[in-house]
Amino acid sequence: MVQNKNILLGVSGGIAAYKACALTSKLTQQGANVRVMMTENATEFVSPLTFQALSRNPVYIDTFDEKDPEKIAHIDVADWADIVIIAPATANIIGKLANGTADDMLSTTLLATHARVYIAPAMNVNMYSHPAVVQNMKQLEKWGYHFIEPGAGYLACGWIGKGRLEEPETIIEAVRNHQSTNSLLAGKKILISAGPTRETIDPVRFFTNRSSGRMGFALAEAAANYGAEVTLVAGPVELDLAENKINRIDVVTAAEMYDAMHEHFSNNDIVIKAAAVADFRPKLIHDEKLKKGQADWQIEMERTKDILQSLGEKKTHQFLVGFAAETSNPLEYGIGKLEKKNLDAIVINDVSTEGAGFGGDTNIVTYVNKTLNPEEITLASKREIAERILKFIERDIKDEVE
Ligand code: CTP
Repeated sequence: MVQNKNILLGVSGGIAAYKACALTSKLTQQGANVRVMMTENATEFVSPLTFQALSRNPVYIDTFDEKDPEKIAHIDVADWADIVIIAPATANIIGKLANGTADDMLSTTLLATHARVYIAPAMNVNMYSHPAVVQNMKQLEKWGYHFIEPGAGYLACGWIGKGRLEEPETIIEAVRNHQSTNSLLAGKKILISAGPTRETIDPVRFFTNRSSGRMGFALAEAAANYGAEVTLVAGPVELDLAENKINRIDVVTAAEMYDAMHEHFSNNDIVIKAAAVADFRPKLIHDEKLKKGQADWQIEMERTKDILQSLGEKKTHQFLVGFAAETSNPLEYGIGKLEKKNLDAIVINDVSTEGAGFGGDTNIVTYVNKTLNPEEITLASKREIAERILKFIERDIKDEVE
């Protein structure tokens, strides 16, 4: 659950900051990419160098210490993070966040991020039960922040009571459990197709397209991370899965993809067709290499079956999502495909826009469900786009049930 995740660890100024060192180390050991952001006060307790060594990344402290002129650090980190953990969270940082105060690097970044934020408070027992702190925590909970409650016991201030920062293992366990059980996608069966298809001309030549498979793989990995049972039908791509729980089925041609998708369709709850399927294939596949000869070549092509359309016709309970790759009038063409193929939603990709479409690590898409209200997901990594798409699907499934 934390493997390959970008985790921003916010450390505020309390004696429990020493436990954040162990937390950094454990998260890194478990394969997370950890960046640490400290408040000035936190640096009084632990040296930034400790976090730098444990996370193998520079530590952020000062909003105005802009190392890279290409980026604004607090926005860049806010966008980068998949998960934010504030540990220890003092009464001060909780109060700032609850009141929208942004007067240092950590508080500013917290206002800028879309990532899920986990707050692990640590303070004196009387501070923890002060009505101001209680009210601030309630407000944050209402806004969707998740608290990892402090344990009870002997506190550094000499008091015995609630306020002791949870142990690093417990914090990681709480984040992990919350990530999987809190998603409506947990336990759902999701079938995803990814990549191009390859249509043979002769033993050395084929037709294909520019799809890298990255978007479909990101969807499969993100869905597995939310606790879904994922089957991924992959065209010929040069990608490995970071998640080993995914059932990967490799195919080459549109016909093989058709068979694999139909074989698994009835057994799945959500089906996402991110693959770029060839619309045409050579009518004749030559067993021997074709000689070039002198004349021009004419290769007669025939239509492949539209897999998505056939799934739309067969659909019973499935939530069916298509992708549309367009270079002009994306909304109009995309919505046309949504209606024609009997889909529940379509992800429209204007592949002519810089940063979007095939090959690269980023994308820009518009999600449209049956309400036909376009929801744009602006430039982000394919992994982040995948998570946002899954969030939209999760919401739409919930709305259908209600
Ligand atoms: N698709 C499919 N089988 C095909 C062609 C497309 O399942 N033979 C699916 C794709 O996986 C995608 C959606 O249909 O989810 C739209 O694909 P796209 O290439 O954008 O559009 P087409 O339907 O092929 O229409 P056109 O090429 O005319 O834009």
